[in-house]
Amino acid sequence: MITLHTKSEVSQQVRRWRQEGLRVGFVPTMGALHEGHLSLMRLAARHADRVVVSIFVNPTQFGPNEDFARYPRDSEADLAKCRSVGVAAVFLPSVEEIYPADATVIVDENQLSRGLCGASRPGHFRGVLTVVTKLLHIVSPDVAVFGRKDAQQLALIQRMVRDLDFPVTILPGPIVRESDGLALSSRNRYLSPTEREEALTLSRTLQYAAQAYQDGERDAVRLRSELCRRFAEAPGVSIEYVEIVDAVTLAPAATLQKGTLIALAARVGKTRLIDNLLLEI
Ligand code: PAJ
Repeated sequence: MITLHTKSEVSQQVRRWRQEGLRVGFVPTMGALHEGHLSLMRLAARHADRVVVSIFVNPTQFGPNEDFARYPRDSEADLAKCRSVGVAAVFLPSVEEIYPADATVIVDENQLSRGLCGASRPGHFRGVLTVVTKLLHIVSPDVAVFGRKDAQQLALIQRMVRDLDFPVTILPGPIVRESDGLALSSRNRYLSPTEREEALTLSRTLQYAAQAYQDGERDAVRLRSELCRRFAEAPGVSIEYVEIVDAVTLAPAATLQKGTLIALAARVGKTRLIDNLLLEI
C-alpha cells in the first residue's frame, strides 16, 4: 500500500493503473476509520482492481461552532486498517494541498441540501460537494463508494454526478451497525458510557418504524408523529428532526413504500448523531 500526499502523485498513479487497463475504485473519508468505512473499501474492491482511499478532515464542511478542531485524527491506525482490507493507495493531503488560499469557486445545490441536516448545518453540503468534486477530479475513479449512513449526502452526490455529468459510477454501501444496533460513526468516540446507552434511541426508533411498516403501516404522517412521541419520551436525547422523505428527491413522503427514507438526527449530550432507515421492499 502506498501513501500519497499531493494531487499530482495521485493523478500520476491512477493514470499508470489506467494505462495497464485496471479499474479504479475510490472511497473518500475523513479518517477515524471504523468497520463502516472498511465495508465501503471491501465493496469498492469488488468493483475495481485498485482501491484508493482519501483521508482528509475537510474544514469547509464544518460550521464555526462544530467539531473540526477536535474531530478524531489517527492516521497510523487508519493506515493499518486500510492495509488490512487491501487498499492500494491512501491519499492524505494537507488543507493547503486541497484548497488554494484564494479559491473563489464552490459547488452548491439549492434544493436537496436545504432540509434534514442542511437546515441546521448551513454551508455543510456546499463544503461536502466542493471537496467531493475536487477529490473525484484528482482521483478520477471508475467507481466511488459512499455509505447510506449519510443518506442526504449520498442523494446530493448522486444528484451532482447526474446533473453535472461526472464520469463516475456512484455505489451506495449499506449502514454498518454495532451488534446492539448503534450505527457506527467516528463521532461515537465522543460518547460517555451513559450517552452510548442513550444513543440507542436512534436505532431503536428506526427498528420500531421497520416493524410498523412490516405490520402494514403505510401512513407517513401518522408514523412520523409516533416516532416523534417516542423520541420525546427517551432520556438524554434531544431530537433535531425526524423526517420521512423520498430517498432520491428528499421530498416529504405521504405514503410509506419502497424507496422511502426515514431519517433522524439528535443530540446525545454534546454529540450530534444521525441515522436512517431505507424501506427496500
Ligand atoms: P466520513 O464521515 O468519514 O464518512 C466516509 C464514508 O463512510 C461516507 O460515505 C459515509 O457515509 C460512510 N460511513 C460512515 N459511517 C458508516 C456506517 N456506519 N456504515 C456505512 N458507511 C458509513 O462522509 C464523509 O466522511 C465526508 O463528508 C466526505 C464524503 C469524506 C467528504 O469530506
